Amino acid sequence: MNRQVYMDNAATSFPKPQSVTDAMVHFMTEVGADPGRSRHDKSMEASVIVDGTRNKLARLFNIPDPKRIVFTLNATESLNTVIYGVLNPGDHVIITQLEHNSVIRPVRHLEHIGIITVSVAPCDKMGILDVRALKDMIQENTALIALNHASNVCGTIQDVIAVREAAGKVPLLLDAAQTAGAIPIDVQAMGVDFLAFAGHKALYGPQGTGGLYVGEGVPIRPLKRGGTGSVSEQERQPDFFPDALESGTRNNVGIAGLGAGVDFVLETGVETIRMHERNLLESLVEGLIDVPGITLYGPLKTQIQVPILSVTFDQALPDNLHQSFGGCGNRAIPATFESVHPQQAGTILSQEFEILVRVGLHCAPLAHQALGTFPDGTVRFSMGYFNTFEEVEIAVGAVKKIAEKKDFLDD
Ligand SMILES: Cc1ncc(COP(=O)(O)O)c(C=O)c1O
Repeated sequence: MNRQVYMDNAATSFPKPQSVTDAMVHFMTEVGADPGRSRHDKSMEASVIVDGTRNKLARLFNIPDPKRIVFTLNATESLNTVIYGVLNPGDHVIITQLEHNSVIRPVRHLEHIGIITVSVAPCDKMGILDVRALKDMIQENTALIALNHASNVCGTIQDVIAVREAAGKVPLLLDAAQTAGAIPIDVQAMGVDFLAFAGHKALYGPQGTGGLYVGEGVPIRPLKRGGTGSVSEQERQPDFFPDALESGTRNNVGIAGLGAGVDFVLETGVETIRMHERNLLESLVEGLIDVPGITLYGPLKTQIQVPILSVTFDQALPDNLHQSFGGCGNRAIPATFESVHPQQAGTILSQEFEILVRVGLHCAPLAHQALGTFPDGTVRFSMGYFNTFEEVEIAVGAVKKIAEKKDFLDD
């Protein structure tokens, strides 16, 4: 019997290091209290754990003041906090074609109710942002640029420094959902004003964890207001960090687990993690590049790609060439009747091969329009540090069998 192969790390990483579970069990069984609310031992101990996670994240992202990091439930909450907390009536915002719905939907909502205007900077068929086009979109009232650091559809990593330069003084929000923990991030060197990240992906924390870094002196309104355990005599929300954006009892048990996840990343080393994941991606691409009847999307260059590979099973090639169209994306012709639909391929991968992937649009519809895979989407293989070369081989073998349409399909 096949062992399950988990290749859905872009949704959430699995497995987690044992230390993450241990830290959560320790918090639940030995600590349990709410940090920053009471003066008793257990509350103080909980504060040490939560502040410890903040300090570790600050080390990882080279954030000068850990207090500028606030905990959220996920990257979506972090992104919403910035979009609703920074933009004002009459503002203009630039997003990119690679954005996730957690950016697209809030900005489109604000646009729909007449608060802001939105421009979408295009990317090419490999998912590389057109920085010049983005620069040309900047207006006097542009108040925010939201940049996807690495696409959760095709893995493409953007050149943040180039965007920072193009942006001039416009505040930059970096969506690091797919990159935090997976590639080096230095908010100072990159000139990032807001860093939104998920705790449950490449930082190996549990679900229900995420965070947001807000640069010093950058104005932002909170998404929610309430108890912070500080200046309780005051009826107004405190304006100091992290309390300004952190109201109510947090997911402290999750934050304890996230601390252990960040420890794992720091101790293993982002460079070591990155190298392993680049090698995995390279071997997946090598295994699939010449397989007839499939199309691969994204740059297919590991130096500018996180370990995410989108695939479609179709004869998307001109002149009936039986070669994959690796590295090009953007189908030359629509998928033919011979295609195996991504949904069907996903079901076969799961049921016949026990390979767990995600299929469809991956909450990023505009990216699929750029790649030519809208509306059916792709089959997405997304790997993490715990994937092995043996698993890549299993995935390659399965894709080949599906592409040959052996045994699974009624012809
Ligand atoms: C690029 C990107 N942004 C945002 C998100 C949302 O992350 P979360 O599930 O932590 O809210 C995801 C999740 O897949 C993503 O890939």
